[in-house]
Amino acid sequence: MAYIVKRGNLPLTPHTEFYAIPNVLSLEEIHGTYGFSGPHSRKQHLKSYPTEQCKPPCKGDYDFVLKSALEEILQPYHIVSADMPYEGDLLHARKPLLYGPSTIISISKPVKSMPQNTFFRNGEKHEIYYVQEGDGVLKTEYGNLSIRKGLYLIIPKGTTYQIELKSKNAFFLLMESSYPITFPPHYMNKAGQATLMAPIVETEIEVPEFQKPIDEVGEYLINVKHSGGCVTRLTLNHHPFDLVGWEGAVYPFGFDIKNHHGIAREIHTAPPVHQTFQSGNVPFNGFSLCSFVSQMEGWHPKDIAAPYAHSNVDSDEVMFFSSAEYGAREGVIKEGAITFHPGAIPHSPHGDAALRSIADRGKMNKRLAVMLDTYFESLKITEIGYKYRDKDYVLSWHKANKMASK
Ligand SMILES: [Fe+2]
Repeated sequence: MAYIVKRGNLPLTPHTEFYAIPNVLSLEEIHGTYGFSGPHSRKQHLKSYPTEQCKPPCKGDYDFVLKSALEEILQPYHIVSADMPYEGDLLHARKPLLYGPSTIISISKPVKSMPQNTFFRNGEKHEIYYVQEGDGVLKTEYGNLSIRKGLYLIIPKGTTYQIELKSKNAFFLLMESSYPITFPPHYMNKAGQATLMAPIVETEIEVPEFQKPIDEVGEYLINVKHSGGCVTRLTLNHHPFDLVGWEGAVYPFGFDIKNHHGIAREIHTAPPVHQTFQSGNVPFNGFSLCSFVSQMEGWHPKDIAAPYAHSNVDSDEVMFFSSAEYGAREGVIKEGAITFHPGAIPHSPHGDAALRSIADRGKMNKRLAVMLDTYFESLKITEIGYKYRDKDYVLSWHKANKMASK
């Protein structure tokens, strides 16, 4: 994020004397990206370093090591995530479904909060959660963010956090990237503001509500994900949320999908206009993340609202259907479904969707979906993703066309 935020107290000049408690030197930490050259935040700890482990590290009681499905046959997939169980806390419920060298897509459907003195830190990927269902609080050293349906939660690599549920259960889509998550640079002007033509406004982000530092000693377990999904448990001798202040451009933030202000045109518009975020250096690596929100279909007197068949040869496409109302897949997907279309084969709307969509010309659609397109990165399906696949999906266009022609 280029939007600089400052919370709490810290010295005006970095790396100078500061005392939050009289005669006790406050200690500084940099949360940085791209070596010491990229966006960073300066964190001021009350009196302890985040390095003070009081027990030797050990293996966590879970991991996210990726297991590929044995079948390596090229095909589109429909993963019926509605059939996946609600269970455990955020981390124990986390199931990676699709992955490549720098991207992972998972589902988590927890039924309880993380234990009070247990925290998580993704040490190898930046994270975007999309909240499909549930209420709660994301607690981090930067402060708290409320969790609600339709919110994206962006959590930079290296952030220590905990999720407390306030609802009976929750349903999260999780997208991870080796690269930082930003608004698309081409939406921003030279001052770092979104241009007046962009579908997003940078000031509509939700910044963590800063909390007083927690001055407690004890044993605090931090499960750190690293080295391709391994998890190591660290034991810190003090509460990790001990900041008296922070400032910078690296921090977790929320963004409501409804704050993607859709841009329509007279004829069908290609997905780049729906882009909300990206990771990495699009279109050369990383991914684009698009928000398909309710908006007006094309109003040209001969417009076809449904998309064309497409071969996006440099992108593997993952769609998450927050709502089942999606013209091109009507009757095929259920709410919460995921489709995966590899770039190596074309995909298209189902059956007579193109013909039916003529009736939607110039009308508001009711869709709500999230799309992730990788760049020059092929994804694989995991064993769990394969288990929850719709076995008939690859033949569903053939079947839908036969039904439509009856
Ligand atoms: Fe597509």
